[in-house]
Amino acid sequence: MKYSLFAAAFCLLFASFTFTQSDEINIIPKPRSVKKLSGAFKLTKNTRIVALDEAGRKMAGLLNDLLVKNYGFKLKINSKPPTNNYIQFLPPDLSIRETTLPGRPNLLHSIKIQPDRIEITGYEEGLFYGLQSLKQLLPLEFKSSIEIPALLIVDYPRFGYRGMHLDVGRHFMPVEFVKKYIDLMSQYKFNNFHWHLTEDQGWRIEIKKYPKLTEIGSKRPESMKEKNFTPYIGDGVPEGGFYTQEQIKDVVAYANARYINVIPEIELPGHSSAALAAYPELGCKADYKYKVQTTWGIFKEVYCPTEKTFGFLEDVLTEVIGLFPDSPYIHIGGDEVLKDMWKESPEVRELMARENLKDEREVQSYFIRRMEKFINSKGKKIIGWDEILEGGLAPNATVMSWRGIKGGIEAARAKHDVIMTPTDYSYFDYGQGDPATEPINIGGYLNLEKVYSFDPVPKELAGDDAKYILGGQANIWTEYLQTPAAVEYMAFPRMLAMAEDVWTTPENKNFVDFSRRLSSHYAQLDKQGVNYRIPEPGGLQNIVTENEKAVITLTPARGTVVIYTIDGSDPNVKSSEQYNQPLAIPLKVGEAKTLKTIVISSAGRKSVVYGATLLRHDYLKPAELAEKRPGVTFGFITRPANGSTDPVLSSGETKTTGLQQFAKTTDLKGTFGVTFDGYLNIPADGMYEFQAESTWDTAVFIDGEKLIEDAGIKDRKIRSAIIPLRAGLHKVSLRYNNHGGDPFFRVRWAIKGQNWRNIGGGELVH
Ligand code: ACM
Repeated sequence: MKYSLFAAAFCLLFASFTFTQSDEINIIPKPRSVKKLSGAFKLTKNTRIVALDEAGRKMAGLLNDLLVKNYGFKLKINSKPPTNNYIQFLPPDLSIRETTLPGRPNLLHSIKIQPDRIEITGYEEGLFYGLQSLKQLLPLEFKSSIEIPALLIVDYPRFGYRGMHLDVGRHFMPVEFVKKYIDLMSQYKFNNFHWHLTEDQGWRIEIKKYPKLTEIGSKRPESMKEKNFTPYIGDGVPEGGFYTQEQIKDVVAYANARYINVIPEIELPGHSSAALAAYPELGCKADYKYKVQTTWGIFKEVYCPTEKTFGFLEDVLTEVIGLFPDSPYIHIGGDEVLKDMWKESPEVRELMARENLKDEREVQSYFIRRMEKFINSKGKKIIGWDEILEGGLAPNATVMSWRGIKGGIEAARAKHDVIMTPTDYSYFDYGQGDPATEPINIGGYLNLEKVYSFDPVPKELAGDDAKYILGGQANIWTEYLQTPAAVEYMAFPRMLAMAEDVWTTPENKNFVDFSRRLSSHYAQLDKQGVNYRIPEPGGLQNIVTENEKAVITLTPARGTVVIYTIDGSDPNVKSSEQYNQPLAIPLKVGEAKTLKTIVISSAGRKSVVYGATLLRHDYLKPAELAEKRPGVTFGFITRPANGSTDPVLSSGETKTTGLQQFAKTTDLKGTFGVTFDGYLNIPADGMYEFQAESTWDTAVFIDGEKLIEDAGIKDRKIRSAIIPLRAGLHKVSLRYNNHGGDPFFRVRWAIKGQNWRNIGGGELVH
């Protein structure tokens, strides 16, 4: 059947039918305990809400807001229960707390759904979370009534800190979007919004005493287009925007009403180019032309540790603290500080002598300690990225561990609080799928399952030290995310996996079960206008077979339609087939075909192309090496510069596959040939892709099998090929001949569909 409007309509019906299936409990994050009771509660327009106290009335108001938004009606609120059919908010059920569930009693809550009433118990914040769970039990549409299955849910979170971050420095995000983000966070029970407000590329918060911070620092006017713009360096789009103090207060109040604390981040001493563009006297070089950066990266422009700078930062932080009165924390950055400008500064040398600081790392530590002392004096604590460990940790600092978990472990062992946000699990600027078809992103590869496997408490932290892990957070850096829709694409559905990582206990987590529950959330996200990444069809994976046909069975997510091609073209809603039964795709020996799919959501949105390669080929077996030495063997052949025609050959061992190592003896613009041979450790059985980017003749062999061979012309180009490999060591042989002009030769590899890794030599053995 071709995809058609009829199919779309069928699909929508199917989606709403399954969403209301009453025997499934699809709450995310998964609660601690869910017991099914018998019967169901029937919510009608005559159902009453019962609120006995202030907290109850607040929740009654929120429930009515929700009903109005979803169904267009609200319920009457009573101060006493009627005989039946009511939803009541009650103080905590102390019997539950004291007998069965110690820990986090302020968030402990229960939801008891019976045929005649729903009772939600807890302190105010617990009631709010109970309400979020109840919301997830409601269908998208109201006919004449709603049946909610009878249940007893008892719940409270594993961690006290459940965070989401948003970088508004690289790209400014409007207030309406920030509020939407906060709404979605609260729906999934996050309680800390880390607002990254200052960056090299933009200062986004109004500071009354220093108006140039926003007049100059919030604007990135320069278009790179005229300057050989490449999208990998900057986006070339003029950018501006900042939040007024009134807007900041409005967002903070909005978040607080949803039990979310907002932590402002004011970056220091690095990532401060925008501030320095506004106030160059805060840098170490008087005559330097500081500017709001128009490219991405780490910059050498940093605050100079002078009294003038400290005075400025104290003024700024005083205003900031006033705008975030309830946040216990102020985040002061501390990451990626290049020390070049400090090294050349007489003022820094003087400071080092005066304070007995032995190197620039200690200068950085001095900087952070001083800011901590000031912030502590205002009754707040600092959070800093894990670089604040270098040169000595400030006494009361909380460490946000991002360069892996190492910094977090070290800090916890030193009895400092830690928030875990390691790149490998929680950097939502990383790609979620095949880089060939995902929207441009910072690189990396972090799929949903990997996010879901995140445990903020590292195995290495035994006993008491684990208690310093306050929780976890996902970060969304916006170098490549110009719009709210782009942020949503990166945040969802990964944010739901992170929600479960920081709420649910590990024993209670299971990815298959999570995926099943997740599928019912897409329709809700559609209704909320969230540009989530539409999931790949289940079962779409690279297949290596020795048979005449590759058989592939897809399990499209609930409510989605999958269209596909196998001829290499992108699927098209008008002409491509719709998937409705397993595919058996014929393959000749050695042949590869690509199954390309597009998934259409229940709301009619189309995914990017999701592909899988089907390959008929034997797996290559790994080699055993008695001795392993790092690096590769090489051969190098050239003609001497003295005019002799006899070639000169050299060979040996080297740690790198870079051509530059031969520049000492050879003019690399001339004629030469080079070979590198080493063994690459393949992590798991699978289909691997190798890619060579080069100018002249190029070849790549794996275990002696020719994968790429191309007698090039003087024109840089990319060639790639796939090969199935068993886990273990495989011989990689690289060949390159240059015939004049600038040489270029780079080889990369990837698990097919994931991110490229360079073969630089260091990861090989011989
Ligand atoms: C960071 O990603 N530089 C904290």
